[in-house]
Amino acid sequence: MAAKIIDGKQIAADIREELKAKVEQLKSKGITPGLGVILVGADPASISYVTAKEKACHDIGMFSDDNRLCAETSEKELLALVDKMNKDSKIHGILVQLPLPKHIDEQKILLAIDPAKDVDGFHPVSVGKMCVGQKAFLPCTPHGVVQLLVRSGVKLDGAEVVIVGRSNIVGKPLANMLIQKSPTGNATVTVCHTRTKDIAYHTKRADIIIAAAGRPKTITADMIKPGAVVIDVGVNRIEDSTKKSGFRLVGDVDFEPVSQVASLITPVPGGVGPMTITMLLYNTVESASQK
Ligand code: GUN
Repeated sequence: MAAKIIDGKQIAADIREELKAKVEQLKSKGITPGLGVILVGADPASISYVTAKEKACHDIGMFSDDNRLCAETSEKELLALVDKMNKDSKIHGILVQLPLPKHIDEQKILLAIDPAKDVDGFHPVSVGKMCVGQKAFLPCTPHGVVQLLVRSGVKLDGAEVVIVGRSNIVGKPLANMLIQKSPTGNATVTVCHTRTKDIAYHTKRADIIIAAAGRPKTITADMIKPGAVVIDVGVNRIEDSTKKSGFRLVGDVDFEPVSQVASLITPVPGGVGPMTITMLLYNTVESASQK
């Protein structure tokens, strides 16, 4: 039997409706939630993410301060802009799109963001608070994954979860969120990565598999247990001459065969993607509410 599709677009739309109402409430008190957006350079994927983030802000009545800087921007200039946004009371969240050009020290920039405005959840203070279970801005993609699971009625308590990928943006924070002693945690988590001896050994016994490796077909049908829940975080551009853009997006999961074995699965596009932006809006509205 084919798996049921988790409709990330619909779940994201539901959350955005909830956020729109909160934005209205805040506006009636004279506060318009504002997001400061910084993009350095002209990476096509980054341009499309940032454009989508800005549009999503406007769609729910928020304000965005959009800054597109050339690839030659110096670290000092970028730090000055972050500092200006830290001090700007109209801006409640700051988003510096990653990756940054090589001549800029990414960690230095992330450290410069006021943790009170760290809506990406990448500042070490946010990461540390999350790890010890204190209230913090949660990083958007892993938070979106947790929301997809919870809102689809997937039981996390006691579940065997296998995450494939150990990035700072997805794998590591997601593992941390899912092991928290909380209604949205309590899972038993294994993290596989490029040095794991036998990834299939782990994925085959998982109730929930989360693919965040950044490589197409990392998860194939023979690697999963019948009835498993499969969440695909991958966004890979592959050449496709039938498309106007010359490419199409695929995830890390071999979708068609895997969907014959899984019970629930996210598509790419239309699964995790819309949730990432939604959780960024969520954090920014939350930050404005704390004013
Ligand atoms: N690059 C890829 N994903 C992200 C993200 O969630 N936030 C930022 N700032 N950059 C990214």
